[in-house]
Amino acid sequence: MLYAENGCASCHGPAGRGDGPVGQTLDPRPRDFQDVAAFKRGFDVEAIARTLATGILVPAAPARGATGAPSHHQQGMPKFDHLSEVERQSLALYVISLHDPARQGARQP
Ligand code: HEC
Repeated sequence: MLYAENGCASCHGPAGRGDGPVGQTLDPRPRDFQDVAAFKRGFDVEAIARTLATGILVPAAPARGATGAPSHHQQGMPKFDHLSEVERQSLALYVISLHDPARQGARQP
């Protein structure tokens, strides 16, 4: 419910695959929650709750991609500091619950 209310799905997609309508316009793309290896800030409740509190600021980046043109869409993820700590932890648990362990196994070296 919190996931839907706070618009997470518009970027991360309804199933957390990083394929929401807004997410498709972003660079870097929103995290695919199935892809634990891609998490930059840790994959536990505390780490994810902290990410939600601070947001992710994507620096005005060095050029990416073949054209070398920086995208004006680079903005990372907004912070959700208006939520309570408990709400952020609930969201973190939800994010973790979207993860499919079978797929993680397939990604282990
Ligand atoms: C405006 C689009 C947008 C919205 C809305 C959004 N995110 Fe994100 N999120 C991103 C992007 C982009 C990244 C990846 C940034 C990067 O790669 O540096 C990201 C990354 C993450 C990560 C991974 C952090 C890590 O350790 O790498 C988590 C967890 C996350 N989002 C959870 C959420 C949750 C929960 C919500 C709703 C409360 C939410 N996001 C809403 C765009 C969004």
